Amino acid sequence: MSDHPKIPLAGVIGHPIAHSRSPALHGHWLKTYGIKGHYVPMDVAEEDLEAVLRALPRAGFVGCNITIPHKERALALADVISDRAALIGATNTLVFHPDGRIYADNTDGYGFIANLRETAPHWDAALAPAAVLGAGGAARAIIAALIETGCPEVRVANRTRARAEVLRAEFGARLVVYDWGQAANMMEGVATLVNTTSLGMVGKPDLRIPLDVLPDSAVVTDCVYTPLQTRLLLEAAERGCITVDGFGMLLHQAVPGFERWFGQRPEVTAELREKVLSV
Ligand SMILES: NC(=O)c1ccc[n+]([C@@H]2O[C@H](COP(=O)([O-])OP(=O)(O)OC[C@H]3O[C@@H](n4cnc5c(N)ncnc54)[C@H](OP(=O)(O)O)[C@@H]3O)[C@@H](O)[C@H]2O)c1
Repeated sequence: MSDHPKIPLAGVIGHPIAHSRSPALHGHWLKTYGIKGHYVPMDVAEEDLEAVLRALPRAGFVGCNITIPHKERALALADVISDRAALIGATNTLVFHPDGRIYADNTDGYGFIANLRETAPHWDAALAPAAVLGAGGAARAIIAALIETGCPEVRVANRTRARAEVLRAEFGARLVVYDWGQAANMMEGVATLVNTTSLGMVGKPDLRIPLDVLPDSAVVTDCVYTPLQTRLLLEAAERGCITVDGFGMLLHQAVPGFERWFGQRPEVTAELREKVLSV
């Protein structure tokens, strides 16, 4: 037996990957907790994904994050899948078992809820319906989390209505689909409003939906975090709503993976946020 214990390795696989903040995020935690491990960015083309995933456990990797465009394909390649990841249809966190089997989970919904609970402690999804703009991967994770947290009704509007109808078929009667052109109407009486579209992101058009019927008691959040203060958040704040930016979701979704790989539950702190924002 070797006298040298293996140094645990983890990382993030995407294509491209240079923009990812995950190495800075996990690197900060490794340093903070004095863990002898490494977290690296890996740019992997679609055709190489399977071979890379099968090889990583043999190279000392304990797991990895998966990002665009591999979230669906990596789920299909996994040997064991959490119920949550199966429902969402995508994975962002893989754990490698010692025998090489790949376990796939999805922590975006956890990150979404943890971010709201931290920043708006009085927020309660169960109080009233939620309105979700968009029906892509982020929406699926958030809708699953809202339903699991007891939200009585989730209203969804998406530019491509058919995509929202697919969610209705999968998530059931608590989901109500609105036309994209009617999105302003679905905000009546909600406790939560979420933008999961890429509108509002640097380089994309702003999200322009009137907030006239949105209650000022609603908590409003945006998955987009570049810029941190999107037009939606600025307009909601003007109405007196509590607003929560999407950067905290990114930080919180990383917690379960780090804990599984390195055996330490990490904390999301103001220092961490500043550090990762400055990258
Ligand atoms: N904060 C975080 O931790 C976090 C986590 C995950 C994702 N995100 C962000 O969330 C956003 C969505 O990510 P995703 O993975 O869900 O992407 P996705 O699966 O590609 O979905 C994109 C969504 O945006 C909508 N959309 C795109 N362009 C539009 C336009 N011009 N007008 C109206 N709707 C438009 C799409 O509608 P159609 O169906 O009609 O195309 C779809 O609903 C991205 O900005 C991503 O960076 C943030």
